[in-house]
Amino acid sequence: MSKYIIETNHLTKFYGEQKALADINIHVKRGSIYGLLGRNGAGKSTLMKILLGLTSASEGETFVFGMNVKKDLHKILPRVGNLIETPGFYPNLTGYENLKLFARMRGVTKKNAIEEALTLVGLNNENKKLFSEYSLGMKQRLAIALAVMHDPELLILDEPINGLDPIGIAEVRKLIRSLSEERRKTILISSHILSEIALVADDIGIIDHGTLLEESSLEELENKNKVSIQFQLSDVGQASIILQEVFKTDNFKISGKENIEVYDTNLPIAKMNKAFVESGIDVHKAYLFEESLEDYFKKITGGEGIA
Ligand SMILES: Nc1ncnc2c1ncn2[C@@H]1O[C@H](COP(=O)(O)OP(=O)(O)OP(=O)(O)O)[C@@H](O)[C@H]1O
Ligand SMILES: [Mg+2]
Repeated sequence: MSKYIIETNHLTKFYGEQKALADINIHVKRGSIYGLLGRNGAGKSTLMKILLGLTSASEGETFVFGMNVKKDLHKILPRVGNLIETPGFYPNLTGYENLKLFARMRGVTKKNAIEEALTLVGLNNENKKLFSEYSLGMKQRLAIALAVMHDPELLILDEPINGLDPIGIAEVRKLIRSLSEERRKTILISSHILSEIALVADDIGIIDHGTLLEESSLEELENKNKVSIQFQLSDVGQASIILQEVFKTDNFKISGKENIEVYDTNLPIAKMNKAFVESGIDVHKAYLFEESLEDYFKKITGGEGIA
């Protein structure tokens, strides 16, 4: 069995002439929180809709739980919960009554499913309140309760923090984390806010203009962007000996024919520079590299950034 709960192969989607997704290969591991990051119009919702069979791909293949979405959607859907378009809750019913209606429509028969879902999202004490009296955060939590009510293994949540205030955002973030950590759900979440994805996701896929620009773990991304002293010089071998013998550090990496990155940023740049030059090395560049994740995203999406 594939270790991926979601996997796409060269997924491409046209809306008429317009290409909304181009050659997308994503890999969502079992039990992970996968953040799909991209600006408005990047293709996040389109990708999620394809996973749920709400729209079809033009080319490529999509697998969920190792099954092809085109063939086995009926086996896939009962195991997935989603928040993709705002569910049509009735304003004059309570949260409980709304969920009960959906439970009946969807054939959810498990005893206490509604109570458990409401408890999970922290709405269990709002029994009397009508949906119309809910705050935006409560409405969003009810939508998540609906998504988890049938106890699915996989949750697909399209911008679940959209429109929430900072407290609502923190609540939903906590909820998503607990669904992952305590309930062992696999979660695919989309957002256009980098800082939010960075706080919640294990893995990130960055999508821009329908193309997946990067897919990696958050840890890898952070490492890639950690602060370092960068040298461009003529002899990386000799320079690494000096770093070890004179500056007593192993905390560096040779990152190119002429490049060394020193992660021990307390070391004095000027003194290292001097030591290199005195041993006959030509130093072309020496600087402190301090790119934030945000700078990185701006760079790879080639624009004003996402966050
Ligand atoms: N039903 C549709 N018909 C035609 N074009 C569509 C349709 N749905 C989406 N698109 C186009 O496909 C592209 C991707 O849209 P999509 O909604 O997937 O982006 P998104 O990343 O979810 O954006 P947002 O952050 O605004 O929700 C956009 O250019 C959009 O205009
Ligand atoms: Mg969208």
